[in-house]
Amino acid sequence: MGRVSPVRILPGDDPTAIDEAARRLRSGEPVAFPTETVYGLGADALDPVAVARVFAIKGRPRFDPLIVHLAEATGLDRLAEAEDAADPRLDALAERFWPGPLTVVVRKRPIVPGIVTAGLDTVAIRVPDHPVAQALLAAAGVPIAAPSANRFGRVSPTTARHVARQLGERVALILDGGPCRIGVESTVVLLAAGQATLLRPGGLAVEAIEDVIGPLTVPEPATLGSLSPGRSTAHYAPAVPLELVRPAATPVARDDERLGLLAASDAGRRVAEGAGGPFVAVEVLAPDGDPVRSAARLFDALHRLEAAGIDRIVAQPVDEAGLGRAVMDRLRRAARATMPM
Ligand code: TXA
Ligand code: MG
Repeated sequence: MGRVSPVRILPGDDPTAIDEAARRLRSGEPVAFPTETVYGLGADALDPVAVARVFAIKGRPRFDPLIVHLAEATGLDRLAEAEDAADPRLDALAERFWPGPLTVVVRKRPIVPGIVTAGLDTVAIRVPDHPVAQALLAAAGVPIAAPSANRFGRVSPTTARHVARQLGERVALILDGGPCRIGVESTVVLLAAGQATLLRPGGLAVEAIEDVIGPLTVPEPATLGSLSPGRSTAHYAPAVPLELVRPAATPVARDDERLGLLAASDAGRRVAEGAGGPFVAVEVLAPDGDPVRSAARLFDALHRLEAAGIDRIVAQPVDEAGLGRAVMDRLRRAARATMPM
């Protein structure tokens, strides 16, 4: 598929927009849509050609599998191998957290195309909690495979404008559902064949999952790549270099460097500005350092700093409890993955 232009951003609460998006999906064309975590770039999960277009639009390597989105948990039986689908832990998690920011990885049935799972014998599944995503799934009547709607490796989108900035002419239609409520991607848990392994910290706190199914195994970074191919590579790279500093650090601009600050809180900002700087752009994740609010602000703050015309971002760490774990995961990756736009 060549470039389609210009991109159209349609209101996600308009039934005609939902109908058009659903029609495009069913005819094999990817569309971008909001979820409660981040915006997704969706295609009919059972149509390998449509899914291939998603990989092409994102510039995503084929070895990195996609998450399949369902309108409700009952749809899982069609995609998941019988033994895994009958796992009582799955029921307990679905009952408690779906719709919501939890993705489970289970053994797949043959109906799921190999391109969706990058050739793995498992499939990642979630039921999103966003009225526009729900309306689209209902109207399309097919499971929707959707990665985050960004170019591969870049900062994830939490508004329709973020999607337009990165995917612009590559996607014909973006449904606008406003800013994403959670703001970081779903938590991914591997449950296949009785396992209980955390593949990605995300919008559902690990503590909440462990309350329901007991302790999760956390793989060593070296083995994570083989369990979850997409996690081995550099990710979340802002267009300007990002450096993670110590909480009490007072980073100073070098010569005529234009320095940006991503502060963890108002208090953190005061520390950094007291003896550091000068900062030509400052974003505060949450005035009181609250981890839920920090997660919701993270990607938008990074998008703003990217657009601020600065040379370097210094970011303060956040407390790793609850959603703070997902925020720190993304910041560490951003620090490791900086690449020029
Ligand atoms: O919140 C989210 O999960 C968003 C929204 C759009 O739903 N989606 C999202 O998709 O973050 P993506 O493609 O950016 O991340 C999917 C993650 C990757 O780390 C991928 O490697 C992992 O899920 N994954 C997918 N299928 C897998 C499988 N069969 N086994 C292990 N990991 C898998
Ligand atoms: Mg992604």
